[in-house]
Amino acid sequence: MKRALVLACLALLLAPQLAARQDPRAATVTQGLAAITDPELARGDYVEHCAGCHGVQGLSAPAKLPELRGRVGYMMCTAETRAYMLRLPNIAKSRISDNQQLADMLNFMVYSLGGESVIPGTQPFTAAEVRRERAFALTSASLVAERRRHVDTAIRKCGAPEEFRNFYQTR
Ligand code: HEC
Repeated sequence: MKRALVLACLALLLAPQLAARQDPRAATVTQGLAAITDPELARGDYVEHCAGCHGVQGLSAPAKLPELRGRVGYMMCTAETRAYMLRLPNIAKSRISDNQQLADMLNFMVYSLGGESVIPGTQPFTAAEVRRERAFALTSASLVAERRRHVDTAIRKCGAPEEFRNFYQTR
């Protein structure tokens, strides 16, 4: 009787870990969100600095800009596509000067808004990566061609849907 109870407790304790193992994306999201130093601040920063264009929930269609919700995770495909995001003028030149604070906000964007587009195994942004890449801010003149190139990579290498070429889901 006691033994059955112990086993039941063990099963309850292990269930979330087993579930995470069965769903590598969920495990990656949990890990990514856990890397955020101050989740409240990260969300607040996103709302203050980014939501005006991208929407509080990452929903911006039919505005002519890439929708983040359920899509931005694909852009974590390679070191180059990650760097593209960090070099976008709105990010690289953000008024948030603290690189950890900016990394936290971007990890909120990727793992929370990115949802089902998060590629299993995606490592969170770090302050060092943000510091390194934001030094190479893109000029707005090159943004459209830049995005096209990185979308190609995400489709070819990371299973992003063809549809990711558009700024938002058109169906
Ligand atoms: C003034 C409006 C505006 C603001 C504010 C803004 N963005 Fe953007 N964002 C855009 C536009 C427009 C693009 C598309 C750039 C392009 O490729 O032409 C974009 C592209 C992006 C992309 C690339 C997504 C993809 O699929 O290519 C990310 C990520 C992003 N923004 C995140 C942010 C974050 C984080 C912030 C806040 C620091 C922010 N943006 C603030 C307008 C804005």
